[in-house]
Amino acid sequence: MNVLLAEVAQATRRLADAGVPSPRFDAEELAGWVHGVGRGELHRVADADFDARYWEAVARREAREPLQHITGRAFFRYLELEVGAGVFVPRPETESVVGWAIDAVRAMDVAEPLVVDLCTGSGAIALALAQEVPRSRVHAVELDDGAYDWARRNTEGTRVTLHHADAFTALPELDGQVDLVISNPPYIPLTEWEYVAPEARDHDPSLALFSGEDGLDTIRGLERAAHRLLRPGGVVVVEHADTQGGLVPWIFTEDRGWADAADHPDLNNRPRFATARREVP
Ligand SMILES: C[S@@+](CC[C@H](N)C(=O)[O-])C[C@H]1O[C@@H](n2cnc3c(N)ncnc32)[C@H](O)[C@@H]1O
Repeated sequence: MNVLLAEVAQATRRLADAGVPSPRFDAEELAGWVHGVGRGELHRVADADFDARYWEAVARREAREPLQHITGRAFFRYLELEVGAGVFVPRPETESVVGWAIDAVRAMDVAEPLVVDLCTGSGAIALALAQEVPRSRVHAVELDDGAYDWARRNTEGTRVTLHHADAFTALPELDGQVDLVISNPPYIPLTEWEYVAPEARDHDPSLALFSGEDGLDTIRGLERAAHRLLRPGGVVVVEHADTQGGLVPWIFTEDRGWADAADHPDLNNRPRFATARREVP
C-alpha cells in the first residue's frame, strides 16, 4: 500500500471513532481535495506527495466540522457551489425535490417559465433550475446577511436574479405571475435541537434550521407567499422533514385556494416534499 492510502485508512478509523457517518468517503474526499485529484485517482499520488495539510483537515472533520466547510465547496446536481461558515450546506435529499420541480416546469409548456426560489441559502436550488431549464427566468430570495453574501458569490454572472428580502413579503411586483415557487425552508422543530447532528447544529446558521415549536412556522408563511406569487395553475414545491409528510399537504387546502395537494418521497423513500397547484377560478 502506498503511504497516502495507508494515511487514508488511518484517517478513516479516526473519523469513525469520532462518529462521522461516512468516514471512508470523507477521508478519501479530503485526501483528493488536498492533492487536487478525484477520489478515484488517489492511487496515482506519489508517496512523497504526502502533505501535513491532510491531517489538519482530518482533525477539523474529526471535530465534526462539515466536510464542505473544510473543502469550501458543495456539489449539487450538476453544480459546484462555494460554501462555508454562515451558509446552509445543500443536501442530497434536496436534489430530488429540484428534479420534481424541473419536470413540472418542463411539462407546463410555457416559453419562458418564471420561477421563484424562496429561502435560497447558497443559491443551490435557483442555480440548478436556471441551468437545467434553459429559458427560465429565476429569482432567488434570502433574508440572512451571511447566507446572502454566499448566494451573491454563487449567482454572480448567472441568470439568477438575487434579492435580499423576507420570503413572506418578497417580490410583490411578481404577484399572480409566477409559474413555480420552490423552497427548502427551515423546518426543524425547536424541541428537536438536541437530536440534530453536530455538523448542522454547530455550523449551519440557526435561521436555516429551526422554525417554531413544530417546525412549520416558515412553511405556513410560505403558503401565503406562494399563493400571492403564483398565477392560477402555478405550482408550489416545499421540502419538509421526513416526519412532516402527513402535515404539510394539509397546509395547502382547497379552502385556502389550492388544488392537488400531495406529498412525495425522496430517493430513500422517506416523505420529503409537498406540492400543490394554485386553484384555477
Ligand atoms: C434549510 S436552508 C436551505 C437553503 C437552500 N434553499 C438549500 O436547499 O440549500 C433555509 C434558508 O432559508 C433562509 N431563511 C429563513 N427564513 C427566511 C425568510 N423568512 N426569508 C428568506 N429567507 C429565509 C435561511 O437563512 C436559510 O438560508
